[in-house]
Amino acid sequence: MTLSSLLPLSLLALATCGDASHLRLSGRLESTSPGTSLLDNNMDIVYMTNVTLNGTSFSVMIDTGSSDLWVSSPVPGAVSQNYSASVSYAIGSAEGTVMSATLDFAGFSIDDQFFFVAPNASSLRGGASGLIGLGPSSSSVVRFLGNSSASNPPLDRIFTSNSSVSPFLTVLLQRANDPDEPFPGNLSIGEVLPDYQDILNQPRLPVTISPINGSQHWQTLLDFNGIIGPNGTQIGIKTQVPGVQTQNATVVFDTGFSFSQVPPYVAEALYSNIPGAKLINVSDGAQAWQLDCDQEINATFLFGGVEFPIHPLDLNLDIGAEDDKGNPQCVGGFQGISFDVAQANANTTVYDMILGMSFLRNAYMLVNFGNMLNTTTNPSTSTAYIQLLSITNATRAAQDFTNVRKKSSAHTISNSSKSWLIGLVAGIGLSYILA
Ligand SMILES: *[C@@H]1O[C@H](CO)[C@@H](O)[C@H](O)[C@H]1NC(C)=O
Ligand SMILES: *[C@@H]1O[C@H](CO)[C@@H](O)[C@H](O)[C@H]1NC(C)=O
Ligand SMILES: *[C@@H]1O[C@H](CO)[C@@H](O)[C@H](O)[C@H]1NC(C)=O
Ligand SMILES: *[C@@H]1O[C@H](CO)[C@@H](O)[C@H](O)[C@H]1NC(C)=O
Ligand SMILES: *[C@@H]1O[C@H](CO)[C@@H](O)[C@H](O)[C@H]1NC(C)=O
Ligand SMILES: *[C@@H]1O[C@H](CO)[C@@H](O)[C@H](O)[C@H]1NC(C)=O
Ligand SMILES: *[C@@H]1O[C@H](CO)[C@@H](O)[C@H](O)[C@H]1NC(C)=O
Ligand SMILES: *[C@@H]1O[C@H](CO)[C@@H](O)[C@H](O)[C@H]1NC(C)=O
Ligand SMILES: *[C@@H]1O[C@H](CO)[C@@H](O)[C@H](O)[C@H]1NC(C)=O
Ligand SMILES: *[C@@H]1O[C@H](CO)[C@@H](O)[C@H](O)[C@H]1NC(C)=O
Ligand SMILES: *[C@@H]1O[C@H](CO)[C@@H](O)[C@H](O)[C@H]1NC(C)=O
Ligand SMILES: *[C@@H]1O[C@H](CO)[C@@H](O)[C@H](O)[C@H]1NC(C)=O
Repeated sequence: MTLSSLLPLSLLALATCGDASHLRLSGRLESTSPGTSLLDNNMDIVYMTNVTLNGTSFSVMIDTGSSDLWVSSPVPGAVSQNYSASVSYAIGSAEGTVMSATLDFAGFSIDDQFFFVAPNASSLRGGASGLIGLGPSSSSVVRFLGNSSASNPPLDRIFTSNSSVSPFLTVLLQRANDPDEPFPGNLSIGEVLPDYQDILNQPRLPVTISPINGSQHWQTLLDFNGIIGPNGTQIGIKTQVPGVQTQNATVVFDTGFSFSQVPPYVAEALYSNIPGAKLINVSDGAQAWQLDCDQEINATFLFGGVEFPIHPLDLNLDIGAEDDKGNPQCVGGFQGISFDVAQANANTTVYDMILGMSFLRNAYMLVNFGNMLNTTTNPSTSTAYIQLLSITNATRAAQDFTNVRKKSSAHTISNSSKSWLIGLVAGIGLSYILA
């Protein structure tokens, strides 16, 4: 199959997946301590964690781009709240009846947590049985329709029910085929992972406010022209977000996007000079960069004056595709923005880029909810902020790339896993509501 037929950008991407294709790595960071939850990584395309609802376990995709919890099958003993919720994602949607049950997650137990049961959800990927939205409550559909703090999303419930839990989350995403990274990743609540305490010393990047109600995400400003391209020079970037008193681009951090989305001219600056690179047409008139798998590409992002080198394995992703002669073909981990939900619905650009998994594997991220926590008791007056800690050493990354891509002619991905990768140029994250 050729790459163009492997990469429909259609939002109706298919999602059949056998768990046999899991490249799950067996190493562990440490035993699970309170406040932390281990992740499963399916092919660097979906990251999941386990939650239980009234004792039934679900493997849910983690999504900082949306703010609702749903599962794909009924929860015994759950109590109906007598209303329905529907959430649209970049790929697919989910809808169903809002219920409540006891949620156990990352060592916390929350009574009467609201969620919905979406048996027909079209956005499940990689063997998941639900999704947990980790974004701000102002973008929660269940919260918006429910009209009371009882319907707050899980993290807001955790933070407001126990004042000794600091109101922040951290996410560490690891790379599946990286010899330096033996475990899949970790999500923590109110705790920083022991080996990464230095994140607390990093610049606090204020969360910027979305101009559209219901479209708030964990977003901040990139430094001015803050991407250094493969030839070592900065890429000129012009923000499209109106009303922002700066020329810096607005970026959203979204664990639900497999491929980061950047303005098309940024993707061109990253890839157009790479030997063999082709901008190919995929479905729905969209385009994607196709690359030879052995091309090592460097780029660096800048936030708060700090450099974040991106691993060449993330700039040039192996999704198991081949050209018509059977040669392995890879794709850029950073693609031109293919859609903009808020723009389509409100005719306003609310962000310039969505930095998804391909970026976040290079930065441990902390999000402090600040005054975006939905609480009337003891509300915070401090602005929400994001801290990022660089976790990619560019020198070692170059060596890893050589070891993984240049020493074998074969794909690092088995044939059997290809089927569910089809169509995943975007990812699932980033819902919105218009209030
Ligand atoms: C989630 O639960 C399943 C089934 O018990 C288990 O195989 C898997 O390892 C768990 N994943 C994590 C990240 O703990
Ligand atoms: C939902 O509706 C049923 C039937 O009217 C009622 O018994 C139940 O109390 C309602 N549940 C909630 C949470 O309001
Ligand atoms: C399920 O959770 C609901 C709400 O937290 C609770 O009222 C109910 O007793 C639980 N049922 C079971 C079987 O655990
Ligand atoms: C799911 O789809 C089935 C078959 O199309 C339909 O009967 C059912 O009502 C749907 N359920 C929901 C909650 O939409
Ligand atoms: C929330 O409030 C709106 C408007 O006041 C109302 O239409 C809706 O039924 C309420 N939802 C619930 C679950 O009570
Ligand atoms: C509140 O959170 C703290 C810190 O995580 C934990 O030690 C404590 O057990 C929690 N209390 C309750 C009632 O869950
Ligand atoms: C924009 O980025 C520059 C660094 O390039 C930084 O000095 C400046 O503070 C940023 N502006 C805002 C409003 O954050
Ligand atoms: C670096 O690459 C960019 C984007 O392709 C190009 O515009 C620029 O001229 C190049 N600079 C040098 C010094 O090669
Ligand atoms: C969107 O905004 C542009 C410029 O403000 C305007 O020309 C265009 O007609 C608008 N489109 C819609 C569908 O409202
Ligand atoms: C909490 O959410 C409700 C409904 O979505 C909203 O009216 C209220 O302003 C929010 N409160 C805070 C403190 O964010
Ligand atoms: C990056 O890795 C190289 C090779 O292992 C090492 O020499 C260097 O000190 C590392 N750099 C940083 C900033 O840790
Ligand atoms: C990428 O950067 C690393 C670290 O600076 C360097 O060792 C390597 O040669 C660079 N690769 C390319 C293709 O520029």
